[in-house]
Amino acid sequence: MSIKTIGILCSGGDAPGMNCAIRAVVRSAIFQKLKVVGIKRGYAGLLRGEFMDMNLSSVGNIIQRGGTILQTSRCPEWMKPEYRQTAVNILKHQGIDALVVIGGDGSFNGAKALWDEHQFPVVGIPGTIDNDISNTDYTIGFDTAVQTGIEAVDRIRDTAHSHARTFLVEVMGRNSAAIAIKVGVCTGAENILLPHDKVNHQKLADDIQRGMSRGKDSSIIIVAEGPTAGRSYDIQHVMKDMHHLDAHVCILGHIQRGGSPSSNDRFIASEMGNMAVTALVEGKFPMVTVVQNGKVLLTDLKNCTTKSDLNFADYQKLAETLSI
Ligand code: F6P
Repeated sequence: MSIKTIGILCSGGDAPGMNCAIRAVVRSAIFQKLKVVGIKRGYAGLLRGEFMDMNLSSVGNIIQRGGTILQTSRCPEWMKPEYRQTAVNILKHQGIDALVVIGGDGSFNGAKALWDEHQFPVVGIPGTIDNDISNTDYTIGFDTAVQTGIEAVDRIRDTAHSHARTFLVEVMGRNSAAIAIKVGVCTGAENILLPHDKVNHQKLADDIQRGMSRGKDSSIIIVAEGPTAGRSYDIQHVMKDMHHLDAHVCILGHIQRGGSPSSNDRFIASEMGNMAVTALVEGKFPMVTVVQNGKVLLTDLKNCTTKSDLNFADYQKLAETLSI
């Protein structure tokens, strides 16, 4: 089939660089004489018929902006086949022949269902700060989120040093340890706690005491948030009650999701957006644009519908070794 009109949406948590990807899709599509329709607020907006025609200037002056001009959402209704049938009817009625979905593995599962059930052409672009999608080394937004985390911890280190304090700094990522590991190694953190680690409070306390006795004035422990944000407070209480150690908690939260995208995020998003359009024009779907061995390329959508399965224990050890 020949594709004349592409719909584009963002889904799940926003990520810096999504706008760069939207811009690249819109401009590449127009360059290839296609029409682009922006779908607001993800799958939920699709179901409500929230469409906007995109032209060259609708994506002007957005390359440097965080968030997404299309806005985004999480859409529980999308789990039900009857809503996906409605969505396909709406898309066809709008004259949309294919969809570009920018989001994480959950959003790609939604896109895969559209393909499996209705053979609706889809291409995914990985966009999530968590960097946790299978078969891609990179997701748009990760680099910026890490840089934001690093800048925050550097500031915390200043005050931690001045007051000779220990800080538990909790970073986003849900079940992914990617942000925690990179921020931890890059800030010289004394310990990094992975999302599903059973916390060894005794070891934490021993590490902090050992550092202090060799003259350290501050300790930073990076806590990966895990399934629910706030686990740092539990760790803080045990450290106080069982080990008589005071630790301050700082939860970085959504600060890491905002902000102007880094050069890496801008560059990769631009390349992926362009590649997504070319894939649709060449009839290559369902696909996802991914980074593998430093190159942006396409892989089958079914390869990107689960979480990546990386083992971060070596990097956790690296942080501890270098901060001894
Ligand atoms: O998946 C991206 C992410 O930012 C996670 O790191 C975090 O746990 C979650 O989204 C927060 O989601 P929400 O903004 O819906 O609270």
